[in-house]
Amino acid sequence: MSENGFILHGAAVYSENRERIISMDEAWIVCVDGVSRGVFDHFPEEYAGLEVEDYWDKLIVPGFTDLHVHAPQYQFRGTGMDMELLGWLNTIVFPEERRYKDLEYAESSYDQFIEDLFVGPTTRAAIFGTADVESTLLLMDMLEDTGLVTCVGKVNMDRNVPEYYCETAEQSLEDTITFVEGALAEEYERTMPIITPRFTVSCSRKLMQGLGEIAKEYNLPVQSHLSENLTEIRMVQELEPDASFYGETYEKTGLFGLPSDIRPEREECPGYGDTIMAHCVWSPKEEIALMKKNGVFIAHCPESNMNLTSGAAPASLYLDEGLRIGLGTDLGAGASPCLFDTMKAALTSSKLRKRFYDENIRSLDFSDVFYMATLGGGEFFGKVGSFEEGYEFDAVVLDDFSLSTMNEYGAAERMERLMYLGDDRNVVGKYVRGQKLY
Ligand code: GUN
Ligand code: FE
Repeated sequence: MSENGFILHGAAVYSENRERIISMDEAWIVCVDGVSRGVFDHFPEEYAGLEVEDYWDKLIVPGFTDLHVHAPQYQFRGTGMDMELLGWLNTIVFPEERRYKDLEYAESSYDQFIEDLFVGPTTRAAIFGTADVESTLLLMDMLEDTGLVTCVGKVNMDRNVPEYYCETAEQSLEDTITFVEGALAEEYERTMPIITPRFTVSCSRKLMQGLGEIAKEYNLPVQSHLSENLTEIRMVQELEPDASFYGETYEKTGLFGLPSDIRPEREECPGYGDTIMAHCVWSPKEEIALMKKNGVFIAHCPESNMNLTSGAAPASLYLDEGLRIGLGTDLGAGASPCLFDTMKAALTSSKLRKRFYDENIRSLDFSDVFYMATLGGGEFFGKVGSFEEGYEFDAVVLDDFSLSTMNEYGAAERMERLMYLGDDRNVVGKYVRGQKLY
């Protein structure tokens, strides 16, 4: 038996699949060579040679995945929330993102963002940089040193963006190749490039077509925004009259996932054909069907959707229809980088949606939001987000001692209380691919 492993002992909660959450008040979780060998309710004698890390009364859960976050929007988080999407982009986002051409500013700012990511429950993330190549490569360098696993994109845009931040299609494509080759040349172990058209409003057909070709040529995943805001959707209809719905503008340009029968088999995840679309608040039936067919991941960003008055996405419908879905903080439209807050927002917005908008679509429950934060989003990175045997070993250790109560609760209820009452300060340990970060 390999000695390259360890056992974590404590209470455990994890999703076995999207229907079933496992709660164990006492568990031994075995990691060998960075991969889970499963969870036991007794000391597993067959692994007696491995060191036991004893967390006693603490809670151990799989690492969380943030499927959609903007690193350069960290500085203005918690401000400017009284606008809707397009006004907010022009007033707050574009002027700030433009500043990242200044590498000193970028380094100081990304340092703060990364520290916040590091201390919270997140172990994996899909991250937007800015249109600037150098500062986005710098962000990747800085992330690689943390031990977290991330995808990072240089943002593309060649229309409907103020001149000071707008690219031409040619320059944007050329810069994307420079960015991708620069990132790949570093041979990072846990940081990979991802193709990142901002959204159809700001990307011409020519640019999107070129990006689709680059994604294919370099075997890269894609991330973007979709059907977030009603004014945005109307603008896409005007800009792209031959598309019958918004998602088709990505599909026509090779940026909208691939059906499972032609999606390449791969050792390393993610790759070409793996796509994240953030928001999907107002997706019509045809768009939902195409996302399902093409295995597109939905990044459900409920805090952002409330802050920018975008709406409330039908997350339970996506879950029940078998679409792939995880959670995104969407920082800075979401104020908090901590996915506990995103989980809460998902619950709240789904309950209000059901009561005020559509009684036929059920509200989410705790096990749904826990699933989305762990296994649902983790799937984008491969076998990630569970302690089931064979999953990459990402874990966070949570201390709920400060959340006093005179009641006795089981492990799942303790996790629910941590989500409602806790924050980053309750995160006391973190493992990624079997490596202990703290
Ligand atoms: N759509 C295009 N760009 C953005 C962005 O930066 N944030 C959000 N929430 N939506 C977008
Ligand atoms: Fe976003």
